[in-house]
Amino acid sequence: MNDKIQVISKYALDGNALKSAEALRMTAMAAKQTLESGSGAGNDFLGWLHLPSSIDEQLLQDIERSAAQLRSECEYVISIGIGGSYLGAKAVIEALSDHFAAYKSGNGPKVLFAGSNIGEDYLYDMMDLVRGHKFGIIVISKSGTTTEPGIAFRIFKDMLEKQEGKAFAQRNIVAVTDARRGALRGLATQEGYATYVIPDDVGGRFSVLTPVGLLPIAVAGFDIRALVAGAVEMEKEGDEQVMHYAIARNALYKNGKKIEVLANFSPRLHFIAEWWKQLYGESEGKGHKGIFPASVDFTTDLHSMGQMIQDGERTLFETVLSVGDQQHEVIIPRDEEDLDGLNYIAGKNVDYVNKMAELGTRLAHVDGGVPNLIITMPTVNERYLGQLIYFFEKACGVSGYILGVNPFDQPGVEAYKKNMFALLEKPGHEQATAQIKARLKN
Ligand code: PA5
Repeated sequence: MNDKIQVISKYALDGNALKSAEALRMTAMAAKQTLESGSGAGNDFLGWLHLPSSIDEQLLQDIERSAAQLRSECEYVISIGIGGSYLGAKAVIEALSDHFAAYKSGNGPKVLFAGSNIGEDYLYDMMDLVRGHKFGIIVISKSGTTTEPGIAFRIFKDMLEKQEGKAFAQRNIVAVTDARRGALRGLATQEGYATYVIPDDVGGRFSVLTPVGLLPIAVAGFDIRALVAGAVEMEKEGDEQVMHYAIARNALYKNGKKIEVLANFSPRLHFIAEWWKQLYGESEGKGHKGIFPASVDFTTDLHSMGQMIQDGERTLFETVLSVGDQQHEVIIPRDEEDLDGLNYIAGKNVDYVNKMAELGTRLAHVDGGVPNLIITMPTVNERYLGQLIYFFEKACGVSGYILGVNPFDQPGVEAYKKNMFALLEKPGHEQATAQIKARLKN
């Protein structure tokens, strides 16, 4: 069996799309060269490109030590962050965890996530959960000034200090932020928190293999060394797969497929898709261009979005994350009466049925005019997730340059913030406040 993730495009590329893929080959090679030589737009944010192979032993040991500290004293660890300071850790932890870990007692603390929304009830419920329990905080913000994690950190820091005292809080709050800039750096220095640096040249959505992702993943009890080792494998030997994916998706885009739906048949991969949507959405959606990244969880969404995919407007293609082996086996029992008519699959394991659903869906969607790209993973573990992360990151860089955008900035995310700050009457935004008030009067 193959020991790396693989891209299969034979159900996606035919006719015009295949011709486009062939025509794109030179452009894609040039895009890869631009990325690797650091000669393209956004080239001051390429620190992720050789990150896996340059993570040093000392950093891994430090992260493991911080994780051990939090695991030794805390029942809950709240990881506070949003966007690139949230999704990577959430995706890896969800992918590796027992699906019902939240309801089971187990080894080590439960990792919770806050600061990724401004839901008052969400924060209230989390405060209610940790009240009276020992908890720690990992606060993650590259800029150190983002509103959502800022609010959550202020609330939980205050709660922790009042509940457990300043000394406990100081031991069990870790800040992950810029080396020098931002409010969080200043606060961490003043309070004496342990800190980790987000390198200047690694943007949020490319930062999961820095302490941004590695620390919460280690706190959750997973093997960050295997994760990094998997990423190193793709860094060193993944280019063929990277180019295959980057070319295929751009060929489909050129042929009117404006939406890429990342589909999985494993509930544990839901947040991998959320991470992927940020990576590709923020990297490519510029200058009124870009493939719109969407996602579905199958077979669940075959009973809802399946209709739209099979039969709606023909502007989408599907990329299926196809997993080889499950971690556990569950056999469907025989029933003497067979009132539900399921004895024809009695004795089979559940994943056999899932695999047939996956194959049947592929055939149906291809017949319905939805090209299917497939990314195969032997199983879901740290190593293959590391491979997948680096594969998607590099393919994203190449894809962005094929498309002709700067894949490493995100100017569009500032628009809502400007309006929100004006509406909140944040100091320094007086003129914008006056303008927005006048606009809302009309
Ligand atoms: O990818 C990005 O750059 C963004 O999504 C950021 O990660 C997100 O806005 C959070 O920013 P920060 O880490 O500065 O709080």
